[in-house]
Amino acid sequence: MTNIARFIDEMPKAELHLHIEGTLEPEMMMTLAKCNDVELAYGSVDEIRAAYQFSKLQDFLDLYYQGMSVLITEQDFFDLTWAYLAKCADENVTHVEIFFDPQGHTERGVAFSTALNGITKALEQAEAEFGISHKLIMCFLRHLSEEQAFETLAQAMAHRDEIFGVGLDSSELGHPPEKFERVFKAAAEAGFVLVAHAGEEGPAEYVHGALDSLNVARIDHGNNALDDPALLERIASEQIALTMCPLSNLRLCAIDKMSEHPARAMLEAGVRVTINSDDPSYFGGYVNANYHAIHQGLDLSLDHIKTLARNSYLGSFLNETEKRAALNNFDAYSASAS
Ligand code: HPA
Ligand code: ZN
Repeated sequence: MTNIARFIDEMPKAELHLHIEGTLEPEMMMTLAKCNDVELAYGSVDEIRAAYQFSKLQDFLDLYYQGMSVLITEQDFFDLTWAYLAKCADENVTHVEIFFDPQGHTERGVAFSTALNGITKALEQAEAEFGISHKLIMCFLRHLSEEQAFETLAQAMAHRDEIFGVGLDSSELGHPPEKFERVFKAAAEAGFVLVAHAGEEGPAEYVHGALDSLNVARIDHGNNALDDPALLERIASEQIALTMCPLSNLRLCAIDKMSEHPARAMLEAGVRVTINSDDPSYFGGYVNANYHAIHQGLDLSLDHIKTLARNSYLGSFLNETEKRAALNNFDAYSASAS
């Protein structure tokens, strides 16, 4: 292992773009399908893995919603979240800001509180056992209606203390941010922090829309902002963090090879780029694998890697005191490792 590879594995870092349902490994999917008597289209773990061939976002989403159908009980959500957090402990992730998709569960008859309680209990236990801090972000599915998003927001109000933010995910094309302008305004009034997926498959225009119509504090992905120089300059000057996901982009064919990933160009344009795993079980790697992929594919220097890791804290929703402590911890690691 090279020095930079070891530096990546051992450095403290935050993960800011992670769908908890996208951490469901095929082994757990099979086990839960049997326990919960859910019929899957696959006969084995190998068949599940073999099905993970995507040419666009929707190919993945179809399997992602099918996969999460095995999650039924609070314990299932706990086990799912716990497995991810154990991985984080292993990969020196000290802070996580994770998404969950309540409508992916309530739509099939699993209560909002069942999913939420399982996830929350695992997050709290990981804070106590591993010292990993967290924020939980609830996403609206953008292929569903505004009305359904409002219903989901109403359900979230009973869990105001456990849910920190509101986001927007699922099929991007044909579902511009403006569709959710009113419900995001209501979420802001209720005190939720706002983020949205934008510019993953959608145009730079959708990134504009997320910033101006939805008033988000951070953009998930944001790749296609590169097509609009004025927008990119704004994102850089306002230090709006982009939560980029290299292996996801490769597996969903947003790029043909890692050397085409926009992270380096954006970093060098002064954008607050962060590196994340999105749906690691489906895209072939957790957060450290994403750093390795981008390090190799874009020939990044140690300074680039340090900036990306520092950005993971700077772009987080930790408060200023917590950010300073996390950055000091990173800098101490960096000084001792270099
Ligand atoms: N994009 C949009 N929706 C999603 C994703 C993603 O990367 N992962 C899970 N839902
Ligand atoms: Zn995502």
